Amino acid sequence: MPDQDGFKVTPWTVEGEVDYNKLVQEFGTQLITDELLERIKKHTGDLHQFLRLKYFFSHRDLNWLLDRYENGEKFYLYTGRGPSGSIHFGHLMPWTFTKYIQDKFDSKLLFQLTDDEKFLYHDETSMDKISKYTYENILDIIAVGFNPKSTKILIDTKHIRHLYPIAIEIAKRVTYSTVKAVFGFHDSTNIGMISFPAVQASPCFLPSKIEGKPTPCLIPAAIDQDPYWRITRDIAEKMGYYKPVQIHSKFLPGLGTNGKMSSSQPETAIFTTDDPEQIQKKISNSFTGGQPTVALQRKLGANPDICPVFWYLRYMFESEKSSDERYIQCKSGGLLCHECKHDLIDATKPYMIEFQKKREKAKDQVNEFLFE
Ligand code: TYM
Repeated sequence: MPDQDGFKVTPWTVEGEVDYNKLVQEFGTQLITDELLERIKKHTGDLHQFLRLKYFFSHRDLNWLLDRYENGEKFYLYTGRGPSGSIHFGHLMPWTFTKYIQDKFDSKLLFQLTDDEKFLYHDETSMDKISKYTYENILDIIAVGFNPKSTKILIDTKHIRHLYPIAIEIAKRVTYSTVKAVFGFHDSTNIGMISFPAVQASPCFLPSKIEGKPTPCLIPAAIDQDPYWRITRDIAEKMGYYKPVQIHSKFLPGLGTNGKMSSSQPETAIFTTDDPEQIQKKISNSFTGGQPTVALQRKLGANPDICPVFWYLRYMFESEKSSDERYIQCKSGGLLCHECKHDLIDATKPYMIEFQKKREKAKDQVNEFLFE
């Protein structure tokens, strides 16, 4: 249920119309300012579209990270996936951004697959099914194009020996009342889930173990994962580590009216495994910001601000300039929804065909990417 603000964001559910400014206050994070973007740009040369458009909009300690970097200290990246289904466009957003940061800052990346979390969280799901998705999702991760020399994937149930020594140090310092308050756990929550946050927190400190000295770690993800980092940051310095740094994105909406793109609503999500016909069908049936009739749309214009078709074109496929032009055209009634849908179908089909080729090739690279 959404709370009194009309929305709710946890690592497992996003409900209602998210007010990102309120969320920043509630979570105690900071908005990304133009000054901070200028500072990032000094190192990256250009700014990723997701930064320019403030799709990545919030952070914790990015200035501190850049201070260290400017002093010659390299940072690790850490991000992850809970393998309970196929990968959709929403998941690709933080990962393509992570790849950009990896390329620009020449960072090592740890990628965690929380198969344990998904087994524990979903009552009905078998470990066999989770293992199948773990493998399938690894293909997607590799297809994003991370540098194989500096990227390592950890599967919790397989690589737990690297995480467990850190996880118990974390678990010892976090009480039940804290995780209850932060994650909304209750008396009927299984005990696996209650201790799981320590497992997702562990890779924040693994870089320091690997390097043998405190090592900065940056986590790019949508803001739903922030509760994990809150508890991790509280105990990091007591454990002799740096606090992990975060950069948070908004949520990519689904093709329906119901908030973020989610595997639980497959008809409104575009998956990396969808074939051209499925893509065509889903986009053709998409919700838009359009008027009920063509005549009304020509007269009153439409609303791109609530339109997922406009969103995908803007964030994934178009330059800012063409997207701004589309915005004006849409608002003034010069553009009809079927035209934008058509453009999105035309952009998505070849993108997915290319991605699927890379996914196929990834089958030969899995071992190269796995943590030893
Ligand atoms: P998971 O599998 O729910 O999501 C994987 C990543 O995708 C982001 N995400 C989205 N981003 C934009 N729009 C959406 N509609 C959307 N849906 C999901 C999530 O924020 C996440 O970055 N417990 C985690 C796995 C994990 C992890 C991590 C994630 C382990 N360690 C470190 C980020 C960073 C999970 O189940 O993510």
